[in-house]
Amino acid sequence: MKVLGSVLASVAALSVADAYSVVVPRDASPKMQLVDSLAVAGAAVERALPNSPSGGYAPMEVSCPADRPTIRAASSLSPNETAWLPIRRNNTIAPMREFLSRMNISGFDATSYINGIQNNASALPNIGIAASGGGYRALMNGAGFLAAADNRTINSTGAGGIGGLLQSATYVAGLSGGGWLMGSIYSNNFTSVQDLRDGSKGSSVWQFGKSIFEGPDSDGIQLVSTTDYWTTILHEVNQKRDAGFNASITDYWGRALSFQLVNATDGGPAYTFSSIALQPNFVSGEIPMPFLVSDGRAPGTQIVSLNSTVFEFNPFELGSWDPTTYAFAPLRYVGSNFSAGVVPEDGNCVEGFDQIGYVMGTSSTLFNQFLLQINGTSIPGFIEDALTAILTDIGEDQNDVAQWQPNPFYNYNNDTNRNSISQQLTLTDGGEDGQNIPLYPLIQPQRKVDVIFAVDSSADINNWPNGTSLVATYERSLNNTIENGTAFPSVPDQNTFVNLGLNTRPTFFGCDASNITGTAPLIVYIPNAPYNTQSNVSTFTMSYSDDQRNSIIENGYNVGTMGNGTLDSEWPACVACAVLSRSFTRTGTAVPSACNDCFNRYCWNGTTNSTTPNTYYPDYRLTNSTADASGKKKNAATSTATAGLGFSLFAAVSVAALLI
Ligand SMILES: *[C@@H]1O[C@H](CO)[C@@H](O)[C@H](O)[C@H]1NC(C)=O
Ligand SMILES: *[C@@H]1O[C@H](CO)[C@@H](O)[C@H](O)[C@H]1NC(C)=O
Ligand SMILES: *[C@@H]1O[C@H](CO)[C@@H](O)[C@H](O)[C@H]1NC(C)=O
Ligand SMILES: *[C@@H]1O[C@H](CO)[C@@H](O)[C@H](O)[C@H]1NC(C)=O
Ligand SMILES: *[C@@H]1O[C@H](CO)[C@@H](O)[C@H](O)[C@H]1NC(C)=O
Ligand SMILES: *[C@@H]1O[C@H](CO)[C@@H](O)[C@H](O)[C@H]1NC(C)=O
Ligand SMILES: *[C@@H]1O[C@H](CO)[C@@H](O)[C@H](O)[C@H]1NC(C)=O
Ligand SMILES: *[C@@H]1O[C@H](CO)[C@@H](O)[C@H](O)[C@H]1NC(C)=O
Ligand SMILES: *[C@@H]1O[C@H](CO)[C@@H](O)[C@H](O)[C@H]1NC(C)=O
Ligand SMILES: *[C@@H]1O[C@H](CO)[C@@H](O)[C@H](O)[C@H]1NC(C)=O
Ligand SMILES: *[C@@H]1O[C@H](CO)[C@@H](O)[C@H](O)[C@H]1NC(C)=O
Ligand SMILES: *[C@@H]1O[C@H](CO)[C@@H](O)[C@H](O)[C@H]1NC(C)=O
Repeated sequence: MKVLGSVLASVAALSVADAYSVVVPRDASPKMQLVDSLAVAGAAVERALPNSPSGGYAPMEVSCPADRPTIRAASSLSPNETAWLPIRRNNTIAPMREFLSRMNISGFDATSYINGIQNNASALPNIGIAASGGGYRALMNGAGFLAAADNRTINSTGAGGIGGLLQSATYVAGLSGGGWLMGSIYSNNFTSVQDLRDGSKGSSVWQFGKSIFEGPDSDGIQLVSTTDYWTTILHEVNQKRDAGFNASITDYWGRALSFQLVNATDGGPAYTFSSIALQPNFVSGEIPMPFLVSDGRAPGTQIVSLNSTVFEFNPFELGSWDPTTYAFAPLRYVGSNFSAGVVPEDGNCVEGFDQIGYVMGTSSTLFNQFLLQINGTSIPGFIEDALTAILTDIGEDQNDVAQWQPNPFYNYNNDTNRNSISQQLTLTDGGEDGQNIPLYPLIQPQRKVDVIFAVDSSADINNWPNGTSLVATYERSLNNTIENGTAFPSVPDQNTFVNLGLNTRPTFFGCDASNITGTAPLIVYIPNAPYNTQSNVSTFTMSYSDDQRNSIIENGYNVGTMGNGTLDSEWPACVACAVLSRSFTRTGTAVPSACNDCFNRYCWNGTTNSTTPNTYYPDYRLTNSTADASGKKKNAATSTATAGLGFSLFAAVSVAALLI
């Protein structure tokens, strides 16, 4: 395992001559021509993703459609989501019937129950899954949970497994590192975690052995050097700039990420987030709808707090439900010159701004810091120059933002929208407000989600979670000025989380719907904890061997299945009970006694113990875990993070970064 410090050291070993030796513009090479032809060909095939009209990273002006795009108030779901939902809900009936039966709730006939309500969509359970931020740790731990929930994963439908939960879900959400996970799955045609993990010849997808600073061994067509890789990135971002758009540090960061996350040549520069809505399996309702989350920053401020405006990306739109911006823009046309909600009659539209790597980068801007630490090493000087130029332009204090310019909400909702008079919409890492689990899109009352599986890979205490993210979302739901109709079950303080072990095992919050003001989902909290490995690796660890990657994914799988049912053979049935809980209430169905047993075991019952705990070094959850018993008690956090990180990085990264 390498941490950032040693990555920087190895990068520093590159000579300056190497860094400057490549000057051949890549678009002149036969390889670039091949890439271009693939991009164009790709646009015609069934896999609809590389649809930026420029064929590359740059957004491009296009004629507006006859029905010109407009900004809408956030008073309802979009017409697109409203039209898609019944198709998806209908498609979840069969998976839910299979899944709930397989979970085998004693004394309960799940097949009859689902058959009895299948013609009544509003009675069916409505499931969401959320994967928190936390860099690669969050990507891998979240991936383990998704693999457990995915019936395509080998053995996930065997005893102790919860496979089929994903196929039954309506929505999934990711933020920052969790956004890399969701973005990677959706940009690769909703492929499985298993397939991404195992990779394929010539593809650099999920190859975390080489850090983002070094770049992949190959780009799918040929071998590349670190300089080659950065030259490609520079070239791609310059294309955006040449097309008349600002570039932010996030453009470079998002491009670099994409080489690891998007299984296409050069990180799939023409892939857009909005094209997910055009994918056949999404259109036909075979897969859930994904969200990525980002926080807004008011102009002239550097503060992101719990009352900051939160934005969601979904395949149709970018916008916010908060009573500030309270608006949504059609994602495909973001980049157009909207003013007061319309694109001026004499203006064209723009497409391709919502490039999928840029969206993933926007949700994870804290990691912009990594690129800025390159100064003083031999990462190609031309990248350093480009970054320095940006900082000179926008100011050092804006180094952790993504510029969305033109601002789609310009002159819109003037009275409440904090960004209405700004040409630029400034977006930052979705975890910066403390809500590190992307619950925001899933607790909107319009979506009527019944149950959220909240996978928490936060680094709160020794790189383990301690409930801080749930506390933040709960607190926000209590602020009448900002919550705007969102309700959230009550959760205890972090000391209680640690003292009662609510952060070491799954815990349900909001079991008693009648006890909550407003309509809130049941939260199934799934905190990262050690099963087969100490999965609390530092947020700043930037490369992982295949073995380490696989064991953290496996650990996440164990977290989600409680060791494949080893710790509680009834856990899969309890997962099913959580899924069914709100539906039981709606249909007036008596709760099976097996479910009541589950709720007695897993629901937080209101007990608190707010004394300050000593510290938190969880033991392995499985007593027979010997995989790396040497790590026991020692704790990966203390052994890697502090040893491997240069002091300067810690100093440079904001406090919030340490939590994400
Ligand atoms: C996308 O996935 C679906 C479902 O697995 C498959 O039928 C389809 O062929 C895939 N499309 C592409 C372009 O790989
Ligand atoms: C969204 O709905 C509008 C209006 O029905 C339609 O024209 C558009 O194609 C839809 N967008 C997508 C991505 O499905
Ligand atoms: C619901 O899905 C079933 C197959 O799963 C299909 O036969 C039926 O036409 C669908 N109904 C609607 C309203 O889409
Ligand atoms: C997964 O679930 C879907 C939906 O129920 C089903 O069509 C598919 O056959 C299942 N796949 C596996 C491998 O069990
Ligand atoms: C699946 O389960 C069987 C039986 O427990 C085991 O032998 C096999 O190794 C498992 N396969 C995978 C890929 O986990
Ligand atoms: C990557 O894409 C190639 C070409 O489309 C495909 O053959 C391969 O299976 C993909 N690999 C993964 C891990 O999805
Ligand atoms: C509630 O939110 C408002 C507006 O967003 C903010 O001004 C206020 O300080 C918040 N109140 C608390 C107690 O945080
Ligand atoms: C609420 O938001 C405003 C504007 O973004 C900020 O100035 C203020 O400090 C925030 N208040 C709290 C309590 O976080
Ligand atoms: C949400 O905010 C909007 C805009 O301020 C307001 O019109 C609406 O009534 C609010 N909704 C709720 C449920 O408070
Ligand atoms: C890199 O260092 C030089 C000199 O120390 C400084 O002028 C420049 O602003 C730095 N660039 C960045 C991106 O921090
Ligand atoms: C918002 O204010 C701007 C001037 O600052 C004005 O041009 C615009 O029409 C206003 N928008 C609305 C919807 O009133
Ligand atoms: C919980 O985590 C927060 C950081 O997110 C930290 O400030 C706090 O001290 C932790 N509390 C406990 C009891 O672990």
